[in-house]
Amino acid sequence: MSDKNKVHIFDTTLRDGEQVPGCQLNTAEKIQVAKALEELGVDIIEAGFPISSPGDFTSVVEISKAVSHPIICALTRAKKEDIDSAVESLKFAKRKRIHTGIGSSDIHIRHKFRSTREDVLKQGVEAVKYAKKFVEDVEFYAEDAGRADLPFLAKMIESVIAAGATVVNIPDTTGYCLPTEYGAKIKYLVDNVKNIDKAIISAHCHNDLGLATANSILGAINGARQIECTINGIGERAGNTSLEEVVMVIQSHKDLNLHTNVNTKRIYPISKLVSRLMRMTVQPNKAIVGKNAFAHSSGIHQDGFLKHRDTYEVINPVDVGVDKSLIVLTARSGRAALKHRLEALGYNVAKEELAELYSEFIVMADKEKQIEDEHLHILFDRFHAKVK
Ligand code: KIV
Ligand code: ZN
Repeated sequence: MSDKNKVHIFDTTLRDGEQVPGCQLNTAEKIQVAKALEELGVDIIEAGFPISSPGDFTSVVEISKAVSHPIICALTRAKKEDIDSAVESLKFAKRKRIHTGIGSSDIHIRHKFRSTREDVLKQGVEAVKYAKKFVEDVEFYAEDAGRADLPFLAKMIESVIAAGATVVNIPDTTGYCLPTEYGAKIKYLVDNVKNIDKAIISAHCHNDLGLATANSILGAINGARQIECTINGIGERAGNTSLEEVVMVIQSHKDLNLHTNVNTKRIYPISKLVSRLMRMTVQPNKAIVGKNAFAHSSGIHQDGFLKHRDTYEVINPVDVGVDKSLIVLTARSGRAALKHRLEALGYNVAKEELAELYSEFIVMADKEKQIEDEHLHILFDRFHAKVK
């Protein structure tokens, strides 16, 4: 597959993800996550925001030493002192990137920077030129691009590319855009920024309206070749685009003709690691990595699934590092599922016995809510004692 179809995976679990209250990691824990990200096959690790604290600075230094293959990226504002700190923190990185930028929407320009379009543009360009003195790979973020005026955004992007930016990040910082709108924004930049072929466009989407994954995918469909994401979708407020979701959308939809470098079998182990270290439980119905993502509990679904997996699963759990699908027994389950689980426990159930056993099972399931293996042993023993 040609490289122009490769979507670079930029993981920001250790920067945007780690900003979540209560999820802070110490340096040793960050190194553990960074090594797991390297094994997962991400292309870029955003290791921190070095000027923000001595702890963050040290983490970028130590991650740079510990990890060899992915590019190590450090975040800065469009300020010389931030860039100096990032340069210093990246000194041991084998492959390094500085991620600098400034607000691009009028809301940010007026209220956050109390500035003008002309001045923020100038500051952004100067930051890129300054960072470029130290590193070849400079990514520019146009913060709140999701709500920015399109012609102004295009002008900003063209200017920072002319100043040397190798990657241009178009963040939907507030998670406001609709997927079609975000996709159209990327297409507008592809069509209207004359030097756009000199840089990679990056999608950085937040999940405030639950659209981060859809927006990132629409970004890629329209020309973005880097997606910024986090493990389990953790991040500010409702979180960032979740890595496992975008990777599995790209892998499942061959029709998109896109690919990533991620070893999908490492997805579930790293999800568990991040959840444990950050003390952030994954919601049970979370796509790909939730406890119920491959669990089937209703009779109709279980019957279909047991006849042919593809009837109710679009991903084989083994492909994302989950052992197997689960057949959960509740009062909504059917005979096929009960027979399947009993057989897995070594019980052979004759056809005529199943109907009767099933009636007893339903009574038990109504009472117990979820039937576990211990319940099935009791059910089977009780049934056979009665029959004898
Ligand atoms: O959401 C955002 O705009 C960001 C930038 C700092 C890249 O995280
Ligand atoms: Zn962000």
